[in-house]
Amino acid sequence: MRRVAIVGSGQVPVRKLHELGLRELGSLVVEKALGETDKSRVEALYLSNMLSDELQGQKHLASLVSDQAELAGVEAIQVRAATAAGAAALRVAHMAVGSGTVQLALAVGVEKMSAQAPTAALAKALDARSEVPEGKTLLSQNARLMQLYLESYGLTAEALSHFAVNAHRNAQYNPNAMFKDRQFTEKQVEESRLIYPPLRLLDCSPVSDGAAAVLLAPVADAQKYTNSPVEIIASSATTDRFRMADRGNPLHLEAATLSARQAFFEAGIEREDVSFFELHDAFSIMACLLLEATGFAEPGRGWELAASGNIGLKGLVPIATMGGLKARGHPIGATALYQTCEIVQQLTGQAGENQLDGPRVAMLQSVGGAGTTVLTHLFAAGG
Ligand code: COA
Repeated sequence: MRRVAIVGSGQVPVRKLHELGLRELGSLVVEKALGETDKSRVEALYLSNMLSDELQGQKHLASLVSDQAELAGVEAIQVRAATAAGAAALRVAHMAVGSGTVQLALAVGVEKMSAQAPTAALAKALDARSEVPEGKTLLSQNARLMQLYLESYGLTAEALSHFAVNAHRNAQYNPNAMFKDRQFTEKQVEESRLIYPPLRLLDCSPVSDGAAAVLLAPVADAQKYTNSPVEIIASSATTDRFRMADRGNPLHLEAATLSARQAFFEAGIEREDVSFFELHDAFSIMACLLLEATGFAEPGRGWELAASGNIGLKGLVPIATMGGLKARGHPIGATALYQTCEIVQQLTGQAGENQLDGPRVAMLQSVGGAGTTVLTHLFAAGG
């Protein structure tokens, strides 16, 4: 594999009921990621989306977005991994460029899920034979994890309330965040509307529309496109038992542990080298369990990192630095590509009010389903 860098990135503000269609959103972020780059140099476009075939009646989205972006002729392939689709598209683009098959590739994520209730469509990330017929959804599975966590460690919901407060605080200076105008206290989180006990409104990421894209080139060519490339220093993908009920301890996200371990090995770094962690905070409990699965906290103590302020911009492990899934928003197929754009902002000193102090290595982790599929990417400035 040759070394691969991100040489362009583009995102649009996350919103509810976006007025643009899927193809327009996709082509808009392609234009932004390309910047001054000549379109004729692009060889491939890998697109991530989870729900368009069900919600918009549209399959074959990669080719549609390529056409709209005046890129007809390129390799255009859709990549799926349920709610981790964006990270899967990034991984495929990374492998295509890294292997030498493709010189310049786009990873594009686009999702419009807010025009109708998406809960049933999202639940199709679970087992259609056994879990869905029992009424399980991503909301109910995360509520179950939260209940187990609180019971196992003798905690109240207050313990997890700090995750949402941190995310909403960080979203306020992100112009692309869905909730940049909504700040909350821990008490407001604890008293927010009950969605699926014990899960409350502010323990959940919102239903959102959005799109984001990144442009990948070999490190050796990166300076042709930008003077501030960001290298992808590792990419890994792993799985756990598909159904939560089949896992020995559902509170241990084994796929997250394995994926992180593989990524650290590939990059030749230690967890201590990570400056910040953009994790899959679709639910506060998921953020907490990922901190534990990746070793940033001991089992049962991830919430303490949040409660002590150590997930904040000046903390030991900053997370959700631009608002995270919770407050930037979680337009599923686009989410990991938003996170990648934000990582580029942080590593190149362009994160504005949310800029971390000299970050060197960023970690991105994305989850498909309720812990079933996990992808980890590591990034470093330069290249
Ligand atoms: N956080 C904060 N505020 C939220 C919110 C969230 N997660 N979701 C909705 N709101 C706000 C809306 O902005 C709206 O406020 P307003 O009336 O001031 O404009 C209000 O709550 C009602 O919004 P609505 O969309 O009607 O809420 P809802 O009850 O239909 O949806 C959830 C709430 C939690 C059920 C929905 O956001 C959800 O399903 N989230 C999880 C999505 C998911 O599973 N994603 C995949 C995870 S991997």
